[in-house]
Amino acid sequence: MAQTPVKVTVTGAAGQIGYALLFRIASGQLLGADVPVKLSLLEIPQAVKAAEGTAMELDDCAFPLLSGIEITDDPNVAFDGANVALLVGAMPRKAGMERGDLLEANGGIFGPQGKAINDHAADDIRVLVVGNPANTNALIAQQHAPDVPAERFTAMTRLDHNRALSQLAAKLQVPVTEIKKMTIWGNHSATQYPDLFHAEVGGKIAAELVDEAWLRDTFIPTVAKRGAAIIDARGASSAASAANAAIDHVFDWVNGTEWTSAAIPSDGSYGVPEGIISSFPVASRDGKWEIIQGLEIDAFSRERIDASVRELTEERDAVRALGLI
Ligand code: NAD
Ligand code: LMR
Repeated sequence: MAQTPVKVTVTGAAGQIGYALLFRIASGQLLGADVPVKLSLLEIPQAVKAAEGTAMELDDCAFPLLSGIEITDDPNVAFDGANVALLVGAMPRKAGMERGDLLEANGGIFGPQGKAINDHAADDIRVLVVGNPANTNALIAQQHAPDVPAERFTAMTRLDHNRALSQLAAKLQVPVTEIKKMTIWGNHSATQYPDLFHAEVGGKIAAELVDEAWLRDTFIPTVAKRGAAIIDARGASSAASAANAAIDHVFDWVNGTEWTSAAIPSDGSYGVPEGIISSFPVASRDGKWEIIQGLEIDAFSRERIDASVRELTEERDAVRALGLI
């Protein structure tokens, strides 16, 4: 019997990440080359027509695995029966906007979407939040979905992880495949901490293969501020690399991996307050993320993890004060 298609809902489908993402999902790269998918595109009313245009192009690819496309501006329709939700659409920061305004505007998006997921998604729903501020948007959505297991809500730090791999590979002149156990800790923001004290290259600790000044003054800020550098160069935020990271995150979540980075709800590991959606070193086994345990954290790393986690708790407190969670 033919396999039932997996329903993948993408919000912000007419945006630039959406455009880079949808074709890869439809070609089988999100879930596997033998898994049929049904796409549901959620957009705001004024962007539905553009999403329809993208759907026409998807049709024109005649993807063998794509069993259908639905386009809507209603979250209750978009998430109905969804197995995977990629929450990409978000309110960007505009000139003159305070952080509280940004959090509030996004609360108005991610709260209702979380509720729609709660009320309509399939029992095995997995949610990846890409839209910024991703960790806190994921927390807002999760808090509006009390019937969905909390750990199904995740936020994307895989792009940061891939950036860290690439920067280190270039520095050491090695293929990215030689680097193991890379970790991004904390928030998807400039406070994130890319950790070379557990990363290994050819079996050696990466931090011991580079000088401390490069690690501290070049590597960490280059990775942490790469998003801003891309915006500066392209005049628009990263899109294809963000879509690529979303594909990597969900593929590994479903199919398993021994070590990567993902922002998932903290269970209190490594002193990160329980419930905060923070990036950790993670493995994926039997379709579930697990925080890799037992790593020694030295003072250099502790200070940086704590700073990023502090920012996350401040964001949580801010959305709480605004009544968004
Ligand atoms: P974009 O502006 O090109 O597209 C966003 C789309 O979302 C637009 O089409 C808009 O109409 C839609 N949208 C807005 N509100 C919506 C809602 N309530 N429901 C459904 N759709 C809605 O932006 P983009 O370049 O595609 O980026 C999307 C988000 O991803 C931004 O928040 C960006 O900062 C973030 N981002 C995150 C990462 C990461 O690593 N986590 C990386 C890059 C970009
Ligand atoms: C990125 O890391 O590329 C983005 O999160 C940057 C942004 O602000 O959209």
